[in-house]
Amino acid sequence: MMNLKIRSKAQASFLFVVLLALFLSGCIPTSGNITAQPVSVPAIDKGNIENGRNLFLGRVHFKYSGPPCMGCHSVGNNGLLGGGAMGPNLTDVSARLNQTELISILSNFGPKISPVMEPIYTEHPLTVSEQADLIVFLNASSGEAETDKELIVVALSLAGFAAGVALLGIIYRGRVRGVRAPLVRKAREQEA
Ligand code: HEC
Repeated sequence: MMNLKIRSKAQASFLFVVLLALFLSGCIPTSGNITAQPVSVPAIDKGNIENGRNLFLGRVHFKYSGPPCMGCHSVGNNGLLGGGAMGPNLTDVSARLNQTELISILSNFGPKISPVMEPIYTEHPLTVSEQADLIVFLNASSGEAETDKELIVVALSLAGFAAGVALLGIIYRGRVRGVRAPLVRKAREQEA
């Protein structure tokens, strides 16, 4: 009995390790030896804004599993609370950076390299078409109103507070009724 238990435990761990290895090798495509190719300027014209938005927000995964830009950046009015705040807000970024600089930061090749993004997207390079989609998306977001996070956070917490008060009110009212109803019934029964 004891033997069986130990053996099955060992088998279980073995299976776990095998599955983990399969998962790591199969489900998380890394670049291997692929390095990012910077997208050419004419290719950017073929970029797809909607796909760029989906990639940015993480609704569509990057081919080589790079993290969605949203993790560190906000842009325009995307998302209720916008994106992360580790990187700069990218609304109007195309007014600050020229096309070459944008390509450079997305491909880790050229005059503008981010020390934060470079190691991540070297391991998980963006394909040429992903770069094109992201760049047309960023260009299109230029001039969009930025999400005012603070206002939304204040509004959400006020709404949460109001909902809490309302809920307490309902529960409290239910309690009083729950206690009173039998008392009233009892009193009526005694009267009768
Ligand atoms: C791990 C966090 C992180 C992720 C993920 C990330 N970035 Fe960045 N990004 C930064 C930081 C931080 C900077 C500012 C430069 C620096 O300090 O490295 C930056 C800078 C930029 C800039 C230049 C902004 C400027 O005003 O100079 C662009 C454009 C940009 N990122 C686009 C993207 C896109 C597109 C993605 C998704 C493919 C992305 N980033 C993913 C952290 C990130």
